[in-house]
Amino acid sequence: MNKEERFQILLNEAQSLVDSQVDDIANMANVTRLIYNHFPHHWIGFYRVVESELVLGPFNGPIACTRIAYGKGVCGTAWKENKTIIVDDVHQFPGHIACSALSNSEIVVPCSRNNVVFAVLDIDSDQFSAFDNIDKNYLEQLVQLL
Ligand code: SME
Repeated sequence: MNKEERFQILLNEAQSLVDSQVDDIANMANVTRLIYNHFPHHWIGFYRVVESELVLGPFNGPIACTRIAYGKGVCGTAWKENKTIIVDDVHQFPGHIACSALSNSEIVVPCSRNNVVFAVLDIDSDQFSAFDNIDKNYLEQLVQLL
């Protein structure tokens, strides 16, 4: 099965899984694990916008930093710019926040409602250049289910 086919199955499962009757944290917890089931990346998780910063939410992977300022790191930059950021080599990204020494590439997808970002989905890989426009397209559709 190629990557697009795996993402299509993931999206179908997510449509059944995401429950509009529960809060964001519950849905993020299940979505995090669902992504891991199909794509077992090094770190998969959410940071939620809480007041003026990003705060660690549900995740699957090693312990991570709990707070990220607006515009800082890959996550804070994706929040500020409200656009997906793919980093092929995190060691070359100015201001990258290294939560794990094993991360080499990263994708961060903002989650927004009415064009206001309420969280970001962050996925780290121990491989370089692990993410491309296929990941971007499907992960952007996925976070719209939240
Ligand atoms: N690398 C991220 C921080 C979060 S961890 O990767 C889990 C960043 O630069 O924003």
